[in-house]
Amino acid sequence: MPPFAELHLHLEGTLEAEMVLELAERNHVRLPYADLDDLRARYSYASLQDFLDLYYANMQVLRTEADFAELTDAYLARAAAAGVVRAEVFCDLQAHTARGVPAPVVLAGVTDALSRSEADHGVSSGLIVTFLRHLPAADAERAYAEALATGVELLGIGLCSSEVGFPAAPFADLYARARADGLRTVAHAGEEGDASYVREALDQLGAERIDHGINAMRDPSLVQHLAERQIPLTVCPLSNVRLKAVPSLAEHPLPAMLDAGLLVCVNSDDPAYFGGYLDDNLAVVRDAFGLTEDHLATLAANSIKASFLPESEKARMLSAG
Ligand code: ADE
Ligand code: ZN
Repeated sequence: MPPFAELHLHLEGTLEAEMVLELAERNHVRLPYADLDDLRARYSYASLQDFLDLYYANMQVLRTEADFAELTDAYLARAAAAGVVRAEVFCDLQAHTARGVPAPVVLAGVTDALSRSEADHGVSSGLIVTFLRHLPAADAERAYAEALATGVELLGIGLCSSEVGFPAAPFADLYARARADGLRTVAHAGEEGDASYVREALDQLGAERIDHGINAMRDPSLVQHLAERQIPLTVCPLSNVRLKAVPSLAEHPLPAMLDAGLLVCVNSDDPAYFGGYLDDNLAVVRDAFGLTEDHLATLAANSIKASFLPESEKARMLSAG
């Protein structure tokens, strides 16, 4: 397998069911699950919101710096085994500060693991703080200030959580500020929302990379725009199937996105919740669509090109593939 970058990965979405229960015991958090089977029986979702309810409930078990470091390190080890050489990971900081875990605890734990990822796992990494669009923009601005105050090095900011009915425009000032601070910008759009959400993320936020973006395919002029400018789209096939963002894997637009010349790459989103890591996502799309080694090489190269690595690093990784 050629080397891949993973660009759409929520660290909290790597919290495996076993770890939920282990951390609940260690941190004395009461959860409403009888046992592992009971918890696992809930991993079937009617919608994005249905999943998010479980995702936010389970992350209550993350309390200490060590919890965040262990979570991050476990992901990096698994990602390395999947062929990942570059990981630009998301942390939903507000979901932790809102329940009383201070930003320095969260970010120190995450960056402790990230700082060792190259040496320990051969994975270069960067941290993107993702803000929650179902909360007011003022909340996100406060969390951004808290993140900066920790002094932790950030690669960028993102926007995620519930999509339909939660416009991105109120976050435009935050994006402008982050850009002025030298940070890179991404945003979830076009997952459950229609193509107009992708346009809004580009036009109002100036997002450099779109997370998901599958529903852009319903708007030919937007597809042309994305193709001409080679705006990256981080697609997550198992997530899209499990959240019913597509009717079935066979109807996933990934082949059409490749045919349209889009800079599309494959990612795992929340692998502990959707049935697999990057290699698992690649395996299902390869089997479903009969992708060749050339297609996989294109997806790998796209992921490196879509990363926020310096151009010289991209060239080195592309030639290694
Ligand atoms: N947060 C974690 N996973 C997400 C997803 N698939 N969409 C929006 N927000 C998320
Ligand atoms: Zn996501």
